Amino acid sequence: MKTQYLGKTKGNIQRYLIENDNGMSVEVINYGARIASINIPSKIGKIDVVAGYADVDEFMGDNPYFNAVIGRVANRIGGAKFRLDGKEYKLFKNDGNNCLHGGEEGFDRKFWQCEIVADNAVRLSRISVDNEEGFPANLHVSVTYSLTNDNAFNIEYEALSDGDTVCSLTNHAYFNLDGDFKSVREHIVSIKASRMTVVDGELIPDGSVIDVKDTPFDFNTQKAIGKDIDCENDMLKIARGYDFNFVLDNDMHNEVATAVSKKSGVKMSVYTDRPCMQFYTGNFLDGIEGKKTYGYQSAFCMETQVFPNACNIGKEDMLLKKGEKYKASTTYKFEW
Ligand code: GLA
Repeated sequence: MKTQYLGKTKGNIQRYLIENDNGMSVEVINYGARIASINIPSKIGKIDVVAGYADVDEFMGDNPYFNAVIGRVANRIGGAKFRLDGKEYKLFKNDGNNCLHGGEEGFDRKFWQCEIVADNAVRLSRISVDNEEGFPANLHVSVTYSLTNDNAFNIEYEALSDGDTVCSLTNHAYFNLDGDFKSVREHIVSIKASRMTVVDGELIPDGSVIDVKDTPFDFNTQKAIGKDIDCENDMLKIARGYDFNFVLDNDMHNEVATAVSKKSGVKMSVYTDRPCMQFYTGNFLDGIEGKKTYGYQSAFCMETQVFPNACNIGKEDMLLKKGEKYKASTTYKFEW
């Protein structure tokens, strides 16, 4: 195992590289606590399975949260407002009438402090001050990325607040296990979730859930992403593909989701302690130029989270009380 500081870019971004003994490596940057690359020595050669840029300064340009940590609250907050302890908080509307992924300038657009904390780990931290993007209380946040010799890339989130607030962190990694970012339709996916969240025309969950059995949303038996994606279905039409919150049947021991590329033979398994996962098939990608060209459905995301919009549907999932420790973890494990 080896972790090294690769230096600073022109744009002042710090780069870190974690390598394991099997030739797998992950590059992490302190801008947005983003994953700049995940390199796998697959059977078709070395491939990078996340979206991004050869010049990491370009992560600062326009892109949809490429591999960033999302906070203070991942996903959409309906009406860009919520009530907490009897008070209403107004947020920035960056997605129609709603607040998406932390607001105008979320955690993905901040510079984090970064330090090497083990031979296989880096920790990034920052303070999200009281009223940043309209959220109450000072929140100390840290994210630790580590890579193991069993090819597991672990993400551990911690946070502590000096007042009651809301908090739900995730990573918005865009994967394509073929490595070519042409299409994810042939990827074989499983998601261990018998229920999913219903969304309205603006992709806002109203709190209701449906059984996925006998619907295009059933991934309990693995299937190609493209198999049912074009089915006649209102929600699939609204989202132009999959962009939904799956309620995980999480037993905490087994993986909650898997994805396999037939082209490269790479398999990714997702483990988490979160109750839910947003499965998104890159339906808003429109040909962004980076290491590759990132077009419609060229990448998928498996964003672990709590119930989206929980703060408006009477759920306590994202409530973080003063002095209470927030802890969350997600692992993306690779085989090839
Ligand atoms: C998330 C959302 C999508 C989209 C992307 C960013 O995954 O669920 O609807 O907003 O982020 O483009």
